[in-house]
Amino acid sequence: MIGWKYGDLLDLSDLTREDIERVIETAKAFKEVSTRDIKKVPALRGKTVVMLFAEPSTRTRISFELAAKRLSADTLNVTVSTSSAQKGETLLDMAKNIEAMNVDMIIVRHKSAGVAHVLARALKPGVINAGDGCRAHPTQALLDMFTIQERLGRIEGLNVAIIGDVLHSRVARSNINGLVKMGAHVTLCAPTTLMPPGIEKQGVAITHKLDDVLPRADVLMFLRLQKERQEEKYLPSIREYVQHFGLTTEKLKNAKKDVLVMHPGPVNRGVELSAEVADGINSVILEQVTNGVAVRMAILYLLFGKKEKVS
Ligand code: NCD
Repeated sequence: MIGWKYGDLLDLSDLTREDIERVIETAKAFKEVSTRDIKKVPALRGKTVVMLFAEPSTRTRISFELAAKRLSADTLNVTVSTSSAQKGETLLDMAKNIEAMNVDMIIVRHKSAGVAHVLARALKPGVINAGDGCRAHPTQALLDMFTIQERLGRIEGLNVAIIGDVLHSRVARSNINGLVKMGAHVTLCAPTTLMPPGIEKQGVAITHKLDDVLPRADVLMFLRLQKERQEEKYLPSIREYVQHFGLTTEKLKNAKKDVLVMHPGPVNRGVELSAEVADGINSVILEQVTNGVAVRMAILYLLFGKKEKVS
């Protein structure tokens, strides 16, 4: 058995609304730890958390590592491209070797969808999905929801627009999953070529015009244009994309005065957001980063309290 009840976080589909609320509540308490002079609590003393990252990542990896360290766990980083994967060893073999050294939690990022599930099924330690292909990035969605809840006091009933490269975005998929469950009204805004067909079945509205979402939105969540995942040409030109889907100070005038501007990072400045908007008063991008540590502390803490997997 795998999933949230058994100590894994693979995607948000197996979390209930109450589970998500529990993560948000727990993160609230942990947020304070990072503001202390001594930024450490003993909750996970003696536990070993391994980061198995097979895709470039800075902020997510650092965020997990800080979260584990602030809970007093021992951490280990395995960068797959520089290790034996190059000698033909499969990721599963490598993970089994890590498991044989008695670690307690494996955090995995991989370019292929489903890798976290495969590891969770095969291994006894808990597995956290830190991003698998275009499929899911549950901890990002949880930290985004935490930020919305903290800033606006609720998620239920809010108008949240998710804008940009939805097709290639695991962040969008996980946020749709979580936000719809929490009772938000979600509208996706993307060029036709970057909108996954049939996505409206997940309880979201769709549009291809930024002007449709700007005046009503309480939250504008921008997605990075995933240049590295675009094998084919999806767009006539970046310039045209910016013109229709990029947010500038001028366009922001059509939005609510206190709208939240969010982005999972890294921002392509001048593409999804102009520099002024990215650094402007509506932007909560760096708060998302701060909250990421608290939310990942909460996730680790809660997962270690779950049932043991029986394989
Ligand atoms: C996201 C990712 O890697 O999925 N970034 C992140 O986790 N900080 C978003 C992205 O790369 O576009």
